[in-house]
Parts: sequence; structure tokens; C-alpha cells
Amino acid sequence: MDFLSKELEQLKKDNLYRLPQIIESRQKASVIINGQKYILFCSNDYLGLSNHPKLIEASLAAMQEYGTGSGASRLICGSLKIHAQLEREIALFKQTEDAIIFSSGYMANLGVISSLMNKSDLIIIDKLNHASLIDGARLSGAHLRVYPHQNIAALEKILSASSTYRRRMIITEGIFSMDGDIASLPEIVDLAKHYQAMVMVDDAHATGVLGKNGQGSAEYFGLKGKIDIQMGTFSKAIGGFGGFVAGKKVLIEYLKNNARSFIYSTSLPPSDIAASLKGLEIVQTEPKWREMLWNNINYLRQKIHETGLNTLNSTTQIIPVLTGSNENTLQTSNYLYNHGIFAPGIRPPSVPKEKGRIRLSVMATHTREELDCVASVLADKQ
Ligand SMILES: Cc1ncc(COP(=O)(O)O)c(C=O)c1O
Repeated sequence: MDFLSKELEQLKKDNLYRLPQIIESRQKASVIINGQKYILFCSNDYLGLSNHPKLIEASLAAMQEYGTGSGASRLICGSLKIHAQLEREIALFKQTEDAIIFSSGYMANLGVISSLMNKSDLIIIDKLNHASLIDGARLSGAHLRVYPHQNIAALEKILSASSTYRRRMIITEGIFSMDGDIASLPEIVDLAKHYQAMVMVDDAHATGVLGKNGQGSAEYFGLKGKIDIQMGTFSKAIGGFGGFVAGKKVLIEYLKNNARSFIYSTSLPPSDIAASLKGLEIVQTEPKWREMLWNNINYLRQKIHETGLNTLNSTTQIIPVLTGSNENTLQTSNYLYNHGIFAPGIRPPSVPKEKGRIRLSVMATHTREELDCVASVLADKQ
């Protein structure tokens, strides 16, 4: 195992070594680490729902009713009434015919891409797509073409030379997880129609956040019924856990019969499903959380812009502050940490080389003082 120690040493030399930071409290807008209080600026719990009393209550009640585990995979005996209910609710929310739950967003992406595509097909992805989308594409064995981030002309060029493939699928994120910009979905959908390609949108970060009702990027752009595959996760703004895919009935039926990450894994426990159901209900019935989030996003973005820092093309709750080299990225996150702010530096392979950053994620529950604090500490660090 000596070769492993050598590789780990090299990661340390390159400032790429990572260790999980242990949080000792509930994960709210501030947390306790090593007995000290830190303002949290890296959680995807954008609406703060994972601590909402109604989610906790629903989760506990489901555990009392159904027990702690689900016993088997969905196609054996792991499909409880509550799983079917969540699938119905997510389809209604996403305004699609049907939906399927996976044990995580990562598994949803692996399952849907690898079951729909094979070596006769072409997958076309944005350069900044999430690792789970790339892994799904690799697992499928399909040909893979990558277009520069948000470059629609490059996407069209690839599509125009793709007629020999059996199927074509364009995959993009709705809100890009490391840059915080929104995909140009109307143009992508138009191109897909023209070249008869499928469109898959990973709305992990847009679900609960984008659109008047929080339904995600399809609602935001008025593209109801025009996106073939809408993937999302319950683990971010919804405050629960687990992934999903929403789309036409025939797609969901196909995935239930073919997606290996759905078929060969024990289904989510009832307590998680109940939390997601309640989170989904609150996203729709308590719009104040989304309003608070967007007020905070606009406030912090303005503050950061006043400092002159580079936040790329972000327009959402994910506000990247570009730090470039691994060394500067680590220094900046340590500086923040020493000033009571927890926001780890994001380095390759999560982002391209020399594009290290502090990925600030705004929560509905951050106070104005907390937002002022991160902006002024970042300004002082410059
Ligand atoms: C864009 C994107 N897709 C998929 C996932 C995976 O979702 P999950 O955390 O539910 O596995 C994530 C989360 O990290 C993500 O950022």
C-alpha cells in the first residue's frame, strides 16, 4: 500500500489534500466546529428546510409508523405507500406525467443515463456538468462530446454532425453547481427539437429555488412539457434526501425496468421519504422561504460586487468568489475560517485547474449581519 501514501503526499504538496470537517451541531446558518461557532456558507440546504420542525415531525412519525428501514429494493418489497406518494407528488410539482425516486441524485444520474444510452449513441454535455453526469455518461459506453460552458454555437456544431448515431442526448445542469449561472435552456430545447435529440436537465440546485413556485428551470423558462428528462434531488432546497427523475410515463416505466441503480439498491427509508414529502409541501405552501432566499441572494451579490471580487456569471444562490490557484484558494478559506466563516475552498477536480474558488451558498435563513460579515471579511482578504 506504499503507493497510496506516495499519492497522498503528492496531494498534500499540490494543496489538493482534503479532509471532512466535522460539524458538532445542527446544520443551520451557523454551526459549531471544534467547540466554536462558524457562519455556514457552503450548505445546499438553501431554504433551511432540513431543520424545519414540520420536516422533523413528519420524519419521526414515519419512523414510528413504518420502522427504520425499507427492507429491500423497490422491485422486491421496498415500495411502501409513502414512496408511491412521493413519486406522485414530485410528478405533480414538476408538472410531468410521472416520476421515479432513486436513493440519491448521484444514483439517479448514473441510472437514467446508463440505461437510456449505449455505444451506438452520442451524449453531448456542457464542460461544467457535475461529476455524476459524466460518470453516468461514461458508464453508458456512449460516445461523449463536451461543449465549452454555455457555448450554444459549439453545441449546434456537434449536433449538426451527429446524424449517424442511434440516439442523441444533450445534458445540462439547470443552475450550474460551481458557477451559479443558469443554463440557456430555451436555446438548448430549440436545438434539440431541430436535431431530434433528447434533453436532460439536472435541476439539483434549481429545484425549490427557480421559478415562481420553485418548480425549477422548466418553470423559470416556461418550458413545461419540453424537457424530456428532469432530474433533481431532495437533498438540497427540499431539505430531505434522495434523487428523482420526472418525465413521461413511458420514460419512468422504462427506468423502473432498466435503471440498475434503481433496481439493485435498497430503497430509501420511510423517515427520509416523509421528510422529502413535507419539504416538497412546504416549498409549495410557504413561499416566504424562497422570498427570503432571493432577498439574501440579491443583497449578498450586491455587497460582493462592491468589493470588486470576481463572481463569474453567477445570478443565483451559488456565488463563486474566484481565487485561482490551489494555494490562494486554501489561504482564502483558512482566512475565512479564522474569521468565523466556514466555506471550504473548491479545487480541481471539482473545478478546472487555476479556477479554484470559494463557493458561497446563500441560505434563506442567513441574517443580514451574517451576509455583511462574509462580504467584509472577503474584502479585507483581498
Ligand atoms: C448538479 C448535481 N447533480 C447531482 C448531484 C447529486 O445529488 P445527491 O447529493 O442527491 O447525490 C449533486 C450534488 O452534489 C449536484 O450538485
